[in-house]
Amino acid sequence: MCGIVGYVGEQQARDVVIEGLRRLEYRGYDSAGIALIGTADGVLSTDKRAGKLTNLEKAIEEHPLPPATTGIGHTRWATHGAPNDVNAHPHLGAHGRVAVVHNGIIENFARLRDELERAGHELLSETDTEITAHLLETEVESGHDLTTAMQRTCRRLEGAFTLVAIDAEDPSRVVAARRNSPLVVGIGEGENFIGSDVAAFIEHTREALELGQDQVVTITREGVAVTDFDGNEAEGRRYHVDWDLAAAEKGGFDWFMRKEIFEQPRAIADALLGRHDEDGQLQLDEVRISDGELRDIDKIIIVGCGTANYAGLVAKYAIEHWTRIPCEVELAHEFRYRDPILTRNTLVVAISQSGETADTLMAIRHAVTQRAKVLAICNTNGSTIPRESDAVIYTHAGPEIGVASTKGFLTQLIACYLLGLYLAQVRGNKYGDEIAALVRELAQMPDKVQAVLDQAETIYGLAERFQDARSVLFLGRHAGFPVALEGALKLKELAYIHAEGFAAGELKHGPIALIEEGLPVFCVVPPRGRDQLHDKMISAIQEVRARGALTIVLAEEDDPEVAPYADVLIGLPTVPTLLQPVVATVPLQLFACELATRMGHDVDQPRNLAKSVTVE
Ligand code: F6R
Repeated sequence: MCGIVGYVGEQQARDVVIEGLRRLEYRGYDSAGIALIGTADGVLSTDKRAGKLTNLEKAIEEHPLPPATTGIGHTRWATHGAPNDVNAHPHLGAHGRVAVVHNGIIENFARLRDELERAGHELLSETDTEITAHLLETEVESGHDLTTAMQRTCRRLEGAFTLVAIDAEDPSRVVAARRNSPLVVGIGEGENFIGSDVAAFIEHTREALELGQDQVVTITREGVAVTDFDGNEAEGRRYHVDWDLAAAEKGGFDWFMRKEIFEQPRAIADALLGRHDEDGQLQLDEVRISDGELRDIDKIIIVGCGTANYAGLVAKYAIEHWTRIPCEVELAHEFRYRDPILTRNTLVVAISQSGETADTLMAIRHAVTQRAKVLAICNTNGSTIPRESDAVIYTHAGPEIGVASTKGFLTQLIACYLLGLYLAQVRGNKYGDEIAALVRELAQMPDKVQAVLDQAETIYGLAERFQDARSVLFLGRHAGFPVALEGALKLKELAYIHAEGFAAGELKHGPIALIEEGLPVFCVVPPRGRDQLHDKMISAIQEVRARGALTIVLAEEDDPEVAPYADVLIGLPTVPTLLQPVVATVPLQLFACELATRMGHDVDQPRNLAKSVTVE
């Protein structure tokens, strides 16, 4: 949510910053802006425009900014104030000496704004950010360098923020600070970078520094210095980014989302890599909770939001079945407000692709205060949620740039299965050969997902057929129910049409009234191995079809029993029931991506959304 970039070095800062913003635009696209300190005259020049980054680029082409080697930039997801030119970042201090970009929400901004206005400051925007520019500038004008000014300012701020600032009178440094909001440093040679995530600078360096909570970082050409808000020296954690520029580009696809859907076989293979030995026994080295503690776990609560929450719903079926540990799944933003019962023997599993979702972060913080153990399932190395957890299983999906989660979801499922099997192994709930058999099934998932992707043209044909639909329903049972929810979410966020997922058994308790002639209904049929579920799902399909629905049935490819009830049949590879969500979700992703494309929507940047939701 909001992308921020900072640069100091020898290159043209304008190019580095704009390129960084392009790679971060998925984090917000309500406006974009840049501020540079001119090399020749030391004057601060800025440009900022409402709308997507292209508006800013056009403006800079028409009115070029002076050459500069120090600069900052911002791409916004609006919180305080409408998405217009005035509210766009950067914001300047009262005398135009300091420029600031910001991600997050400053909770005490009304009080600080009052105080500034009473002291005669004129604030031009409705944002909470502008006050920080005024506060910082007041500090540098009273003789502090920008680093000290940032420390002093941050001590006065409440809420969540990443701030990046430059001072026209000191072009040698860019200073940033973070509290509860993402910030990484890119370490180059003779140049250094700041970004909301490593995508901002991946084409320049793969060496990164992860900052801790409440830290200030100063980058110059020569180096990087970290302190806390009180000015004490501090340290970040240095790491090497294990993906490169190619992973952050579209690679010939029209959308990042489509590319990421097609990357799923590889992503699943990477998620499994090194997680089991040749005998199919699991090795989760990152789970630094002792076997004894895992054996004592008597309850699991899975928290996450949106798609991550649906991964949790699937996990519940698998984990309870394999381990017999009671497992609850909760939307992260609801979790702490119901005063959940947590003990030392509760394992809270936080699922988050970005590792920065504020709702999920607050949920785990609550769990930590209650002394529960926290395990993160996360895709982003160096992000806050795994850092604040006792253990982590990284999903290794590589960067997910399309705003709608796809490979993030499938690899979250894989990580949840690994966790469930690992718990079963440690606690002795399953024999070694049973675990090995399931691990073998997991190892086949990349090929099975590929087999579904090979049917993409058929699914695109469906999107063509239903491109005028104004409502689509999704039905599933058991582990197919979260798949239905996920299919509906993808369609809502990308095609902006009414889409709902239901547990098929719930139909007759109300939703069946929605069925009318020609309504497309996707139906996820469990594998035949689970006879009861399978047959009950077929009954549900018959019920909606009898009332005029057009049924698009996802079922095992050689299932003879469903064909008579399917207007369209999409064959899924044979897999165990609990693993079926991995293959059944893929056609729904392809359908949503293609339908939105045909409707002329921006698939990678759907309206009103941002990739990583860093505000509560
Ligand atoms: C939907 C989607 C969102 C995210 C949710 C959580 O396609 O992407 O629902 O799943 O905002 O995000 P993370 O996983 O980053 O915590």
